Amino acid sequence: MSLVFVETIPYNSISSLLRKVAYGLATTCVLGTAVYIGYSVASPDNHSSKRYRNPELNDEIEKVVSSLKLNDEQLKHIMHCLEEEMNAGLSSETHKQATIKMFPSFVRHIPDGTERGQVLALDLGGTNFRVLSIKLRGNSHIELTSKIFLVPQSAMIGDGKRLFRHLVECLAEFMKKEHLLQSGICYPLGFTFSFPCKQESLASARLTTWTKGFSCADVINEDVVKLLQDAIDEKGINVKCAALVNDTVGTLMACAYKEPATSIGLILGTGTNACYIEDLDKVGTWNGDHDEPKQVIINMEWGAFGDNGCLNHIRTKYDEEVDLSSINPGQQTFEKMISGMYMGEIVRLIILDLLQRELLFLGHRDTYGDYKTPIYNRGGFYTKFVSTVETDEGIKFSNTRRVLEDIGIRNPTFDDCVIVQHICRQVSKRAARLAGAGLAVLINRMGKPTVTIGVDGSLYRYHPRFKRNMERSMEGLVNKDFKFKFALSDDGSGKGAALVACVAAHNAPELLTKHTREIIDDKTSEANSD
Ligand code: GLC
Repeated sequence: MSLVFVETIPYNSISSLLRKVAYGLATTCVLGTAVYIGYSVASPDNHSSKRYRNPELNDEIEKVVSSLKLNDEQLKHIMHCLEEEMNAGLSSETHKQATIKMFPSFVRHIPDGTERGQVLALDLGGTNFRVLSIKLRGNSHIELTSKIFLVPQSAMIGDGKRLFRHLVECLAEFMKKEHLLQSGICYPLGFTFSFPCKQESLASARLTTWTKGFSCADVINEDVVKLLQDAIDEKGINVKCAALVNDTVGTLMACAYKEPATSIGLILGTGTNACYIEDLDKVGTWNGDHDEPKQVIINMEWGAFGDNGCLNHIRTKYDEEVDLSSINPGQQTFEKMISGMYMGEIVRLIILDLLQRELLFLGHRDTYGDYKTPIYNRGGFYTKFVSTVETDEGIKFSNTRRVLEDIGIRNPTFDDCVIVQHICRQVSKRAARLAGAGLAVLINRMGKPTVTIGVDGSLYRYHPRFKRNMERSMEGLVNKDFKFKFALSDDGSGKGAALVACVAAHNAPELLTKHTREIIDDKTSEANSD
């Protein structure tokens, strides 16, 4: 055999084969070692990942990052403060001074999926605004058509009347397209208005303050439903606003339509807020009846938690800067540490600080000191960049590099990428843990064995770790007897408003015209023709 082998494979071929094998082995070893080293350096849990070449610089960076960390003890203290503030907001004696307003929403019945009818909804809460036409078919089945419109910056900070006229123009355009104008029917409308409002009934609510970059004149203290209805009547379209709800309440309602165990509504998007079902006995500010069900959904407006200074001990200089340069300094402290409107800006301020102290992007400072690149400008680091950076796994950092190029850092080094990712992770983790602590207060307070949390918002949907970090923090804070789970709500806030409007139209037919009664009447609604 060996002879045959020698004969059939000449010496030259053998040596070239061996050479190839040797090359292969050597390359594998080199690459393998490089990958191993790379992974161990880049691994988030490995302390060496945070080591910058110069250990002193590294300690400085660590100092910044540690100021963002919150342990369970700190979170428990925050939970205690939050519950005290909640009680202050609910009590008629302390409500006025309380920072968390705990507004009763006037929504007392949770849907059970049997609701039927056709309703319109408007959903305003950020730079986008949606108009929806919703058919509730019973059996938890919903059909929906909708259109997104932009709210121009000028309308967000201009005259209030102009804002409402703009909303109604969009509504009329949508109704025309859907052949709902002049159909001989007056449609009930649910209005999701995601700003703090003191409700006086389902269909009357006064704005207490603007948030999330809005500041239109002549709306604060006004009845927002009336402002909308006036604009509708001025346009002469066949719509009656039957209910106003906060987006948290809409989200809770929409989830409950599918899953009746839902008793918390949560928004983690441009802003953050939560609502939950509270016993009427605990709502000192409640002036309505005490009939069954003895409960009401409370719109917490938890974004304002900390406005009295009770979170100052955990705020960093970056949080203070974000607040000072915002349109509403001193307000929405909790929201500014959590939500999407501010997260990117916190990261930008940290990066900029490290850059200016020559702790990051070494050697880049002069090149990029022209103050025109996004890193130097407010809003230059979008919150979606935080998600993008955090999706990078391993050593290539291709997303992080792209983001850094976008903000004007050309050819960032491997170390730069590791540090930027580390900062993003800490900022978003702090936000997730704070939101988790807030939810833990609600779950422990309600004392239900199982709770479903209906949730919506871009941060929850698109950030790769937010949900996981929030759940992990809750595991250490929620009483072990209580189980909880999250249910993502699709189009929740608009659908929820439609549900409330539908129920309101059934319960208060005097609100509506004969035609409206007909459309929500099971016998005449399309729902029944199935
Ligand atoms: C802001 C608003 C609040 C809303 C939240 C989420 O905090 O004040 O009403 O629910 O944003 O959109």
